[in-house]
Amino acid sequence: MTNRNEEILLEVKNLSTYYQQGQGLLFTSKKQKQVCKEISFSIKRGEVVGLLGESGSGKTTLAKAITGITRNHTGEISLYCNRPQMIFQDPYGSLNPAKKVLWTLEEPLRIQGNSSKALIRKKAFEMLEQVGLERKIAERYPSQLSGGQRQRVCIAEALMLDPKLLIADEPVSALDVTIQAQIIRLLLKLHRDRNLSILFISHDLRVIYQMCDRALVMRDGQIVEEGEVSTLYSHPTHAYTRQLLEAAGISQ
Ligand SMILES: Nc1ncnc2c1ncn2[C@@H]1O[C@H](COP(=O)(O)OP(=O)(O)OP(=O)(O)O)[C@@H](O)[C@H]1O
Ligand SMILES: [Mg+2]
Repeated sequence: MTNRNEEILLEVKNLSTYYQQGQGLLFTSKKQKQVCKEISFSIKRGEVVGLLGESGSGKTTLAKAITGITRNHTGEISLYCNRPQMIFQDPYGSLNPAKKVLWTLEEPLRIQGNSSKALIRKKAFEMLEQVGLERKIAERYPSQLSGGQRQRVCIAEALMLDPKLLIADEPVSALDVTIQAQIIRLLLKLHRDRNLSILFISHDLRVIYQMCDRALVMRDGQIVEEGEVSTLYSHPTHAYTRQLLEAAGISQ
């Protein structure tokens, strides 16, 4: 399925993450709430790795720690590639409603400041094409796009910086089934064409099965099981994985 070699892009070792709780009033120290607990795993170049687990298990928290959105953690996050880019469940919320698509696509490279205006524009149109959108979409505002088109714009924006690792946090959960299938096909095409590694977060076991080589099962901040998707689904060893498979109506 993939042109996989053994090059590691991301290595997470004993990662624990914390949120501050409360105001830390005078004479009382702020409480720390631990979410991720001693998590270790790695992702190789060209791999599509699923992260599944029930709501509140800490999947988004883990993704935010890896991408540096949150920094309150212990343990090690070692990256052997450029900064991973992230796409989210709600493409509308992650796009600036006041800006046209072209502006959104150009912004990451404009901030970097290393490329000419003409090069940035050329790349923006190339990325639109890569995600299957017509050129005229560049002149639209997010409110003038469908949910599927918005998610394609978010993917194009993420690709502008040529990431080697994409973290997709429930990227199809808010879309209807037909559009879900289109976005999954697009992500798999980008994975093949660019040898892009993807950490694909979902609570939908069927989507993980379609997308991923390997999956991590997360419960209550811990990875309770990890393995090749085919093995994991046919021979789950952890009771929680069996429970998830049963709940999804997948016979083992
Ligand atoms: N900013 C925050 N401050 C405090 N606690 C938080 C914060 N964000 C998330 N949490 C808590 O951390 C835990 C894990 O949340 P997280 O969003 O990572 O779960 P998730 O697995 O992504 O869930 P879902 O499938 O619903 O997206 C939850 O108990 C949540 O309430
Ligand atoms: Mg989440």
